[in-house]
Amino acid sequence: MTVGELRERINTLPRVKLTELPTPLHELKRLTEEFGGPRLFMKRDDLTGLAFGGNKTRMFEFLLERALREGADCIIGGAAVQSNYARQLAAACAILGLECYLVLRRVRGAADDRVQGNLLLDLLAGARVHIIDADPEGQAAAMYRLAGNLEKKGHNPFVVRMANDSDLTPDVAAYVECFCEIIDQCGTTGFKPTHIYIASYDSTQAGLELANEALGRGISIVGISPADWGGDVVAGITRYANQAAENLGLSCRVDGKHVINTKDYIGRSYGIPTSEGLHMLKRTAELEGIFLDPVYTSKAMAALADHIRKGRLTSEDTVVFLHTGGSAVLFAYTDELSALNLKLNLYENDL
Ligand SMILES: Cc1ncc(COP(=O)(O)O)c(C=O)c1O
Repeated sequence: MTVGELRERINTLPRVKLTELPTPLHELKRLTEEFGGPRLFMKRDDLTGLAFGGNKTRMFEFLLERALREGADCIIGGAAVQSNYARQLAAACAILGLECYLVLRRVRGAADDRVQGNLLLDLLAGARVHIIDADPEGQAAAMYRLAGNLEKKGHNPFVVRMANDSDLTPDVAAYVECFCEIIDQCGTTGFKPTHIYIASYDSTQAGLELANEALGRGISIVGISPADWGGDVVAGITRYANQAAENLGLSCRVDGKHVINTKDYIGRSYGIPTSEGLHMLKRTAELEGIFLDPVYTSKAMAALADHIRKGRLTSEDTVVFLHTGGSAVLFAYTDELSALNLKLNLYENDL
């Protein structure tokens, strides 16, 4: 199958417009030099627009079209308090004139009650937010309870994520399209990627895997999990990819044996930065002027650095690092970022 044919398949899906695509892809010359290994490029999905950008922009174009088609007048979303998903959902709902209810779960104790970062943006965008202490199952139950009560009041709620993970085809399709963009842009720039590095737990990697398979590219996709909630991540990615393949009428299937996703860089837990991740967040900012986030992309960049150090990647390789966004959360992580010892008044003697 060609990129054009795969794109045509995606173009048959109805969507609402929330962004301008493609996002840029450019070389990271100074970071390449720093690592002294493979040539590095970055796909800038942190620049998808929609409330400071991120991987959810693409997904919501498909998902929220479905909600509107089903006659929804409000959306119920659930994730962690500092969720990028929630922030982008709140903004997309604002654009589409949908009421947005967010049932958010604390993952950092009292630090999560501070109205900063994504939580601040959720509220600015007019989302109705409730913060709870619950496990993901308890959170999903709360979301459906809310949906039931809103229905009783005559509303037509559409429940997304945490509670509705059974079919992620819209999310997967979004990253099939992103893979097509990467291939087109690499062709124009004149290089062939050997690897794609990505922070992903499920749908983003599932989309890349499906497109890689459909186009027979054989690129090594290396997923770095931000969380360990006990599930089999590779099995999930494979299942979501193949469910989308079926829904999109693609004959290929992803074989879980070839899916790489590691939990080695999570650190203490989801939402808690690692020192290696924070170090890479700083280096990427000071060498490339690009801000990673402390929860997802910095851990993926730490994995890339580690793989280069261990010789798993060499100067023969060309890596595309897919930046999935999340930097708005930096403003809610000032305590954790203080570990970087960011100093004021360094040149006071020269003033
Ligand atoms: C910045 C960022 N990167 C990566 C991911 C992972 O996306 P997925 O679970 O779809 O693979 C998320 C999900 O919330 C995210 O916010």
